[in-house]
Amino acid sequence: MDFVVTPTAEHFDIDAHRLGEHSQDETRTFPDGEVYVQLEALASIDRATVIHSGQPHPNRGLAYLYGVLDLLRTNGCTITLVFTYVPYCRQDSEFYAGTLNYARSLLRMVTDCYGVDRIYAVDPHFSHQEWIRDFPVERLEAYPLIHERVEMEDYVVVGPDLGAVERFDIPGFEKTRTGARDVELAGEFDVGGQNVLVFDDLIATGGTMVSAFERLKDQDAATVQAAAIHGVLEDGVERVRETDDTLYLTNTIAREAADIGAEPLIENTVPG
Ligand code: R5P
Repeated sequence: MDFVVTPTAEHFDIDAHRLGEHSQDETRTFPDGEVYVQLEALASIDRATVIHSGQPHPNRGLAYLYGVLDLLRTNGCTITLVFTYVPYCRQDSEFYAGTLNYARSLLRMVTDCYGVDRIYAVDPHFSHQEWIRDFPVERLEAYPLIHERVEMEDYVVVGPDLGAVERFDIPGFEKTRTGARDVELAGEFDVGGQNVLVFDDLIATGGTMVSAFERLKDQDAATVQAAAIHGVLEDGVERVRETDDTLYLTNTIAREAADIGAEPLIENTVPG
């Protein structure tokens, strides 16, 4: 079995094939913005595990991903796909009439069109949705990697919102979005004098984590540290780092602040 990384997954410390660069300009995009997809080792690969992160550059990333999958499928390979972060994973419902559930559409595309027969996804935002039962998806859980790194002696784990209750079975606040980058949280936890780890699947604008920090400090928590699996937006990650006492972040997306390697999830869980 061979690992193949798409450009957004090249930061993983894993022995894998990378896409080639175009000989004319040594990049993997043409001047008009279209992607260049070449896998030199293609002819020698029978079974491939493709590793892809949906950020940064979610749209360009998909163009590479679909290209690699098509090359492998056309060459008769068996394909397993690992999403360290699933692109479009937050668009996981028909929020309004006529809205595309993009996450479901994407899984349909990779299985039905590109013949992927197994998908692994690190804590996808849609892990609690009914529709994922229609797909051969297995969740890789990153929390144990974070837990190993937390330096507080005794601490309680709290989610910033009710999504955390569904995804991780931990208590969470009720959240109302008040603007593109801001939220309001409601609810009380008995955290007076205690160390608290606020744990969420992802940080986008950082508004959720920052509000959780403020609310927990108002409730007299001694220390509030933040932990997230996916650092979706660089600005949001920085905002949380500037606010919370500490941020633990995995490298499912390549971010400067991400110092918890997700590689063990791939190497120890995905069958060779
Ligand atoms: C919500 O469902 C997610 O789990 C996160 O809480 C949310 O997307 C974080 O967004 P932001 O960082 O923009 O507040």
